[in-house]
Amino acid sequence: MHRVIAKLAGLTLLMLSALPSRAEEARQFRLSVPAEVAESGLMDYLLPRFALKTSRRAELVGGGAADAVISADPQAGTAVMARAGTVYALRLTGENAAARRFADWLSSDVGQRTIAAFEPEQGAPFAAARQQQAGPAPALDGDPALGREVALRHCARCHRTHDDDRSSGIGSTPSFPALRALPDWADRFTAFYVLNPHPAFLRVEGISPPFDPTRPPAIIPVELTLEEAEALMAYAASVAPADLGAEIVHQ
Ligand code: HEC
Repeated sequence: MHRVIAKLAGLTLLMLSALPSRAEEARQFRLSVPAEVAESGLMDYLLPRFALKTSRRAELVGGGAADAVISADPQAGTAVMARAGTVYALRLTGENAAARRFADWLSSDVGQRTIAAFEPEQGAPFAAARQQQAGPAPALDGDPALGREVALRHCARCHRTHDDDRSSGIGSTPSFPALRALPDWADRFTAFYVLNPHPAFLRVEGISPPFDPTRPPAIIPVELTLEEAEALMAYAASVAPADLGAEIVHQ
C-alpha cells in the first residue's frame, strides 16, 4: 500500500515538473519596437532596468508574434514616449502578464524618468510622454548588510569594494568607492550584470539568460538572486564615494 502511494506521489511530482510553470511563463514576453528605436540603444538601456525591478524579461522580436508592440503611431495604443516630433505608443496584443507589467512600468514615474535619462549615442534623446514630475529617487529595498557580504564574496576578487584590506581588488578594475563617486553610479550598479565583463561569468537568477553552453565561464560562475542584486545596490548606496582626485594620485 505504502509503495503504491509512494509511486503515485512520484508520478504526480513527475507530472508537475513536466508542466510548464505558470509563474515562469509570465516572466517573459515578446516585444516588438520600430527599427529606429532598436538602433538607438534605448531598449538595451530600459530592459535591464525593468528586469531588475520586476524580474520580468523581454525578448525583442521582429513584428509578428509580439505580446507588446511599440509603434510610431500615437493612435495605436498608450503614448509612452516621443522623439523629434514622433510619438510612440505601446499596445498589448494579448494577456501576457509580464507584458502588462512592462506597460505599467513604462508609464510609471520611474519608467518615464528612465526613458528621459537615456542618452543615445546618435540622434535626439527620447522624451517621456507624460509631463515629468521631479519625484524622489526610487526607493532602495535591498539590505545593505547582505549586499556587503555578497560584494565581499563575489565582487572583491576584482573590485576593491570598500576602504578596507579584505577587498583589495585588481588594480585596473574600478573600485566601488570610485564608481560611487560618479554621478550615475546608481545606473551603473543597476545594469552592471549586462555590461562586460560580467555576463561571461555572472547571472542574476530569473533575469539573465542562461550561460552559453558552448562558451562556459572561464572563472567560477556567480549566480545572484534578485534579493542579492538589490542588496548590492543598497550596499553601493552606503559606500562612501572616493575623492576621485586622490584616487588617481594613489594609483
Ligand atoms: C572577474 C572580475 C570581476 C568581477 C568578479 C566583478 N567585476 Fe565588476 N567590473 C569588472 C571590470 C574589469 C570592470 C570594468 C569594465 C570596463 O570599464 O569596461 C567592471 C565594472 C563594473 C561596474 C561599472 C560598470 C560601468 O558602468 O562602468 C560595476 C557597477 C561593477 N563592475 C559591479 C560589479 C559587482 C556588483 C560585482 C559583484 C557581484 C562585480 N562587478 C564583479 C570586473 C569584475
